[in-house]
Amino acid sequence: MPELVVMVGPQGCGKTTRVERHLARTHAVVSKDHWPNARHREQRQQRVVRELLSEGRSIVVDNTNPSTADRAPLVELAREYGVPVRAMYFDVPLETCLARNAERQGRARVPEKAVAATRRLLAPPSTAEGFARVDVIGV
Ligand SMILES: Nc1ncnc2c1ncn2[C@@H]1O[C@H](COP(=O)(O)OP(=O)(O)OP(=O)(O)O)[C@@H](O)[C@H]1O
Ligand SMILES: [Mg+2]
Repeated sequence: MPELVVMVGPQGCGKTTRVERHLARTHAVVSKDHWPNARHREQRQQRVVRELLSEGRSIVVDNTNPSTADRAPLVELAREYGVPVRAMYFDVPLETCLARNAERQGRARVPEKAVAATRRLLAPPSTAEGFARVDVIGV
């Protein structure tokens, strides 16, 4: 049975690490990070998710996805294809995200301001917005 998993959490919280350890073998990994310089990345991501859903694949969307508005198109696509959609929410303090981000090298390290801005936008995902389940990942 395919599913759509939506990662939620600021930069540095550990999303990609968890995807690589727990999901990458079973789920197609979709992320706007795969096309850092493309235009219309949001539309492109939705197109890719739609294609994979139509092929019956399980998918994980590995972006920060902080607000309900960011997640709504994904929830809607899952509903359209009759696939359960699960959120994986990283309830990790800003300080931990900043410390993990600081350990990264090169392009993977983002400005501290960007992490703090995403943290401010963050609305914890809920079943009310259409998720069948919300898994909370602590520190
Ligand atoms: N549970 C953990 N404990 C300690 N360190 C971790 C943990 N998970 C991830 N890290 C480390 O924290 C850093 C950030 O992790 P990761 O790249 O997975 O974050 P991310 O949420 O994908 O960030 P971004 O949104 O910028 O892609 C990495 O150096 C990683 O090795
Ligand atoms: Mg990542």
